Amino acid sequence: MSNISSNKTSSIIGVFDSGLGGLTILNQLKSDYPNNQFIYFGDTAHLPYGTKSKESIIQFCDNIVQFLISKGATIIVVACHTASAVALNYLKKTYDIPIIGVVESSINGAIHQTISNHIAVLGTHTTITSHSYKNKIVSIADNIIVDEIECPLFVPIVEEGLENTKIALLTAELYLDNINNCNIDTVILGCTHYPILMNTINKIINPNIHIINTGLSVSRDIQNLVCSLNPANDDRYYVTDVPYRFNTLASKFLKYPINKIEHVQL
Ligand code: DGL
Repeated sequence: MSNISSNKTSSIIGVFDSGLGGLTILNQLKSDYPNNQFIYFGDTAHLPYGTKSKESIIQFCDNIVQFLISKGATIIVVACHTASAVALNYLKKTYDIPIIGVVESSINGAIHQTISNHIAVLGTHTTITSHSYKNKIVSIADNIIVDEIECPLFVPIVEEGLENTKIALLTAELYLDNINNCNIDTVILGCTHYPILMNTINKIINPNIHIINTGLSVSRDIQNLVCSLNPANDDRYYVTDVPYRFNTLASKFLKYPINKIEHVQL
């Protein structure tokens, strides 16, 4: 999926999230751009972003982007819906390297997908109350109805490894109760933790409803930016704290264990 540009070196792709959820995006990017080096940053000391203020999140993201650039990143993917919702505009204005957020990418995928013109967005408190999805979708296509659904318990359920349990199912029923009763045909999982709940969510929502794969959408959106000329160096992983259940969570999100993780303080 990669293009060759006039640059003589391969792009180094920085990917960051509030924690480990962004590894679900990294998985897709690594499979589509196997010759590029990735630098993953999980701001685990400040997790969750989903309950924090816009001002705090912008400050965290600013520090992370500076760090990733100092480590050589030439493209940055904000693999966190909450950070993309509230900090992307600031980051794009402040830095002159390409910075791609998951909100724009999943919106592009959803607008392309919907036929009924009725989309639901599931997300954290901060993402949903920012109305970033709704505002952006309506600014592109004002005939589309957007239902915004806050799902605050989904992240802790995933973090506790409870994604395939009765608790997860009851929670999904609670949040998604009405989703099959209107004309919704497309759902955006507006949080990088939510793909881990896919089995449970699929038990609740109508099988005709299409769920947007944000990883795929981001991957498509960066294809003209990524240059893949040389074999990549090893990927690098940084976290700001080593959280509870770190290894279990990391391998759950990434599907394989991470060998070298560096702990940094920003
Ligand atoms: N990864 C975040 C997102 O995609 C959710 C977790 C958090 O609240 O930090 O919105």
